Amino acid sequence: MAALLEADDVVKHFPVKRSLGEIATGRHPAVHAVDGISFAIESGESVGLLGESGCGKTTTGRLLLRLAVPTAGTIRFDGQDIGTLAGDDLATFRRRAQLVFQNPFEALNPRFTVLRAIAEPLVNAGVPRADHQARVVEAMRRVNLADVDQHLDKYPHQMSGGQLQRVVLARALVLEPIFLVADEPVSMLDVSVRAGILNLMRDVRQAMGLTAVYISHDLALVRYVCDRTLVMYLGKVVEDGPTEEVIRLPQHPYTQALVKAVPVPHVDQSHEPLPIKGNVPDAKNPPSGCRFRDRCPHAMARCASEEPPLREVAPRRRVACHLLAA
Ligand SMILES: Nc1ncnc2c1ncn2[C@@H]1O[C@H](COP(=O)(O)OP(=O)(O)O)[C@@H](O)[C@H]1O
Ligand SMILES: [Mg+2]
Repeated sequence: MAALLEADDVVKHFPVKRSLGEIATGRHPAVHAVDGISFAIESGESVGLLGESGCGKTTTGRLLLRLAVPTAGTIRFDGQDIGTLAGDDLATFRRRAQLVFQNPFEALNPRFTVLRAIAEPLVNAGVPRADHQARVVEAMRRVNLADVDQHLDKYPHQMSGGQLQRVVLARALVLEPIFLVADEPVSMLDVSVRAGILNLMRDVRQAMGLTAVYISHDLALVRYVCDRTLVMYLGKVVEDGPTEEVIRLPQHPYTQALVKAVPVPHVDQSHEPLPIKGNVPDAKNPPSGCRFRDRCPHAMARCASEEPPLREVAPRRRVACHLLAA
């Protein structure tokens, strides 16, 4: 199958304010949010980006949608380098690739009705006004906001969290995209409505043939909705494979720790965010060699001196760990 999206050695550093010492020594400190990640996503795939807070998931999602510009590396969408898109090509990309916001309570303007909120992307894309209502109703139908007439004129404060997340999803779908990035799509919702929203997203994705990236700190979420999972640690992809295999037979010591902490992940249970010992190191000063070595029970001398590349260890299975180097 053809890749819809290809990330090639993508880096995103955020410069930070220099201290006097850093000015004196000519150093330019930066947060290494994303530090050289490569992967391809096939058309129709549902891919999870899993990792603890601060490991670069949101930044990766924003880069894939060209909401942020990489410091280095390229991202191709449907064969085109998205960094070079302009004019009509950029407008087309903006229609085809959409973000589902994390927090429905923040994503929606409290002064906009449902109709106006869902129609806003149509306005921005220059769709003729006469078509708006029909397109909005169609998007609402897709997200099972039954009884459309009853909802069109409502304001966010008149709706439940689950209904609001349906509105947010309808807004992302109204331009009929082919690619969605959903950043922690249910983390702000009550656990009792999470499975319903995830089922809906899965049904919509299948019905529309969408390719999707789900960003989450929750193993249960990726297990529920993602065919494949990329595990991130401090700006790097450390493991990549079919979700069930990654959970059943994790290869990277970091993934092993995550899975051990949550042996039977369920979306309708509350979890601590990835309970593993120690802290993620400072993204301004990532450790030499393997970034996980400080927390790794198997660390060897080589792990401090040499960075383990993300290597294919089996078909469709990639891991970045010296332990697995034959
Ligand atoms: N606009 C920004 N400016 C400076 N640092 C940022 C910015 N956005 C994210 N970061 C930093 O980049 C790192 C990765 O952040 P993020 O991509 O939000 O991680 P995640 O979504 O996995 O929690 C963090 O250390 C975060 O503080
Ligand atoms: Mg995030």
